[in-house]
Amino acid sequence: MLQPVLTGAAAENEPPMIEVRDVSHVFATPRGLFRRASAVRAVNGVSFEVARGCTFGIVGESGCGKSTLASLLIGDRIPAVGTIRVAGETVQAHLARGRKSYARTIQMVAQDPFGTMDPRQKVGPQIDETLALHFPLSRADRRTRTAEMLRSVGLPDSVCEKMPHQLSGGQRQRVAIARALIVQPQILICDEPTSALDVSIQAQVLNLLLRLQEKFGLTIVLISHDIRVIGHMSHAIGVMNAGRMVEQGRAAEVLCCPRNAYSRALFDAAPGAGRLMCGAEESAAVEKVTRKGIA
Ligand SMILES: Nc1ncnc2c1ncn2[C@@H]1O[C@H](COP(=O)(O)OP(=O)(O)OP(=O)(O)O)[C@@H](O)[C@H]1O
Ligand SMILES: [Mg+2]
Repeated sequence: MLQPVLTGAAAENEPPMIEVRDVSHVFATPRGLFRRASAVRAVNGVSFEVARGCTFGIVGESGCGKSTLASLLIGDRIPAVGTIRVAGETVQAHLARGRKSYARTIQMVAQDPFGTMDPRQKVGPQIDETLALHFPLSRADRRTRTAEMLRSVGLPDSVCEKMPHQLSGGQRQRVAIARALIVQPQILICDEPTSALDVSIQAQVLNLLLRLQEKFGLTIVLISHDIRVIGHMSHAIGVMNAGRMVEQGRAAEVLCCPRNAYSRALFDAAPGAGRLMCGAEESAAVEKVTRKGIA
């Protein structure tokens, strides 16, 4: 079995922020009129750890189990097998105290921010509602915090007065990030956060996530089918194939010298990434890892 990789400067001294141990999840589809009962092992024996303030990138083809793993981390599903500990406690223990409490530990940013917004409500009241749900603040304080958070994600106050459909895709994703961060979570799960965006906007949103990670000390699990996105952002990388994590390690090592045949094929299929990232880009990645105190 693959050994989980401890990533981050804090790894030596404190327990990991996320600890996934031998987790499996099966979707059972009952027998229907025209189909047999079936079972899909979406996640199969996955283990990994992420230290505080670090990004663990999960890459793999469509259907390999990335989103299922995300749903297990945020507690939308409970793994049939294995354990997930988040900030020192199992997901079940967090959920026993209520979803609201767990939401202050872990938040998710999904591919389609429009799907998580109320299309009939202005942006400001939507962020305000989230804030009011979690903190006993006066209306004026909530307004100040909302404006500050919008500034942190690079949006003007005037966005508060807009309806979701009046925003561009990039602006909508920034609002989704603001709404996730307004509850001050320690962990952000980003499931294909830039897949629906133009390449130039993708880069802006990814760089924003890097800045916010630094500012708020966020631990991030970033999911993408695009190894270039994962390579740009991650301190450590896990490669998934058919529910299994076939390879994991420090980003520079996995990108430059993938040991697994599937990882090599995946990286070779993405020009400008993977093993091509040796030389100048490798030293940049190593520098990033070193900066975080990993190397
Ligand atoms: N609710 C569900 N019921 C039954 N099977 C499911 C369900 N959700 C996902 N699956 C199956 O589990 C497997 C993993 O799906 P998942 O959505 O986790 O993949 P993914 O890696 O996120 O894919 P993509 O990159 O396309 O988003 C797939 O075979 C999928 O068909
Ligand atoms: Mg998915």
